[in-house]
Amino acid sequence: MRVLGIMGSPRIKGNTDLLLDETLSGAKSEGAEVEKLVVDKLKIAPCREYYGCLKDGNCVIRDDMDAIYPKLLDADVIIIASPIFFYGLTSQVKALIDRCQALWARKYILKQNLPDGARKGAFIAVGATRGEKLFDGPILTVQYFFKSISIKYVDELLVRGVDKRGEIKEHPTALSDAFQLGRRLAQR
Ligand SMILES: Cc1cc2nc3c(=O)[nH]c(=O)nc-3n(C[C@H](O)[C@H](O)[C@H](O)COP(=O)(O)O)c2cc1C
Repeated sequence: MRVLGIMGSPRIKGNTDLLLDETLSGAKSEGAEVEKLVVDKLKIAPCREYYGCLKDGNCVIRDDMDAIYPKLLDADVIIIASPIFFYGLTSQVKALIDRCQALWARKYILKQNLPDGARKGAFIAVGATRGEKLFDGPILTVQYFFKSISIKYVDELLVRGVDKRGEIKEHPTALSDAFQLGRRLAQR
């Protein structure tokens, strides 16, 4: 069981990072092989709509996405973790998702089979405010992203009212919820 965690916050050891680490620890405790990508440390250009991918399913831009596409296709579980920035995902993780238009093209234009079966996905998000609709936009984005790469959206951990770096440690349940999320995801 390969679990790929995509850490979308630019803040290392911030709330998203700590939540994702706990989730990956939970998955590891169930015997999963885990990997974390810190998107902010990678070179990922935004999609430029060159649409080379419509011809052969490959993006024409050469950067760190070259190594990420195979990881996205090999993982049994993918976790997108992001703080809420203006009711959306961070631009770092959104750039990674947009560049997966190449995988969308393989599936929907070129009618290639992506690995599917029991591939699962989960979304972790944290925001400072408590609005009811805080996570609505990013959930739609992540669900559509997962669908495009043949991943089933199965679980989520959405935490409101957490703002300062590391403040998540004071939350009564979030870190243990994250650990349990990882355990669930790693169970077949
Ligand atoms: C550019 C920016 C935009 C933000 N927009 C929102 C927002 O729309 N709603 C919200 O509740 N919090 C918003 N926040 C607060 C962060 O979501 C919050 O501080 C979060 O805990 C940061 O997580 P991190 O430590 O993982 O980066 C924003 C923060 C930044 C820097």
